[in-house]
Amino acid sequence: MNVLILGAGAVGLSIAAKLSSVCNVHAVCRERHAEKIHLDGFKMTGIWGESTYSFSCSADIPEDNEFDYIFIASKSTATESICEQFKDSIKGHEVISMQNGLGNEEIISKYTDSVIGGTIITGFEWKGDATINVSVESGPMNLGRFPSGMDESVIRLAELVREAGISVETTENIKTSIWSKVLYNSALNPLGAVMGVPYGKLSNSHSWSIIRNIVEEAFQVVESEKVPLPWNKAEEYLEYLHDVQIPNTANHHSSMLQDLSSRRRTEIDFLNGAIVRMAEELGVEAAFNSFISEQIRFMEDLQAN
Ligand SMILES: NC(=O)c1ccc[n+]([C@@H]2O[C@H](COP(=O)([O-])OP(=O)(O)OC[C@H]3O[C@@H](n4cnc5c(N)ncnc54)[C@H](OP(=O)(O)O)[C@@H]3O)[C@@H](O)[C@H]2O)c1
Repeated sequence: MNVLILGAGAVGLSIAAKLSSVCNVHAVCRERHAEKIHLDGFKMTGIWGESTYSFSCSADIPEDNEFDYIFIASKSTATESICEQFKDSIKGHEVISMQNGLGNEEIISKYTDSVIGGTIITGFEWKGDATINVSVESGPMNLGRFPSGMDESVIRLAELVREAGISVETTENIKTSIWSKVLYNSALNPLGAVMGVPYGKLSNSHSWSIIRNIVEEAFQVVESEKVPLPWNKAEEYLEYLHDVQIPNTANHHSSMLQDLSSRRRTEIDFLNGAIVRMAEELGVEAAFNSFISEQIRFMEDLQAN
């Protein structure tokens, strides 16, 4: 089995490393990461085990290679440019989005007719150009045919991922997994970045009133989209967020905060920004999501100048 991972960083290189023990892998990453991996190997620490891996990687795809599965593991902000750059390799192939947010699968669908959605709720942190620490895991990877359904190809991929030692489940409704993660990320990620605090601080009554509104607006959209969620009402999800998810990730710092301090664009347009766009199409209000999106975009502009 041949697997290609495009836009490989913290998530993509870690998945490449694990898969390299059960199949042929090539990771397309930045030159500085490839150079260091060629020199010293890729080092993984933390809960996925401590090991050094060697696998094929470079800033491009090696010529004359055919791939059974192609993962896109970049930030959502790079999905379109990666699809454009590698469109000849992607066309007609099975492509998996291993990214956060709404809209990645739709972008990929413009370049191939076989798209698999994926979610991963594991924490990967850079510790050097070829070192990643896997810090936490709140559940298995989810894989499912996009927009919905199940087939042999998804099942084969899940078997491969499982064989590599990664906890994984398949689902007939991948949009449920994608939206469940979007709710968590859009509630905590931008507000955590604006306030510069770890998630545990966000259950304060004032920040909670902002989160409540963000989640209620998101629920209006998801209900109109008819995506089934594990929670029947916004109130049920808010209780879960407050009592389970925030305590479990109390020390976690927002990835948007890290993006902003590295002067990178954030994934806001794929989280709260996407909720605003969908709300507009439905003719419903999403004022809190709009406000927080504009704040983050303002911060992006300030960092850029
Ligand atoms: N990290 C986590 O713990 C975690 C957990 C769950 C889900 N996620 C989600 O998973 C996705 C990936 O996150 P991540 O943390 O792995 O991001 P990341 O560390 O920034 O990795 C993406 C890598 O792709 C590179 N890249 C972008 N375009 C490229 C191109 N054309 N050719 C080669 N390399 C390219 C980026 O380089 P540049 O930075 O130079 O552009 C970066 O090194 C995001 O949607 C994120 O929200 C992350």
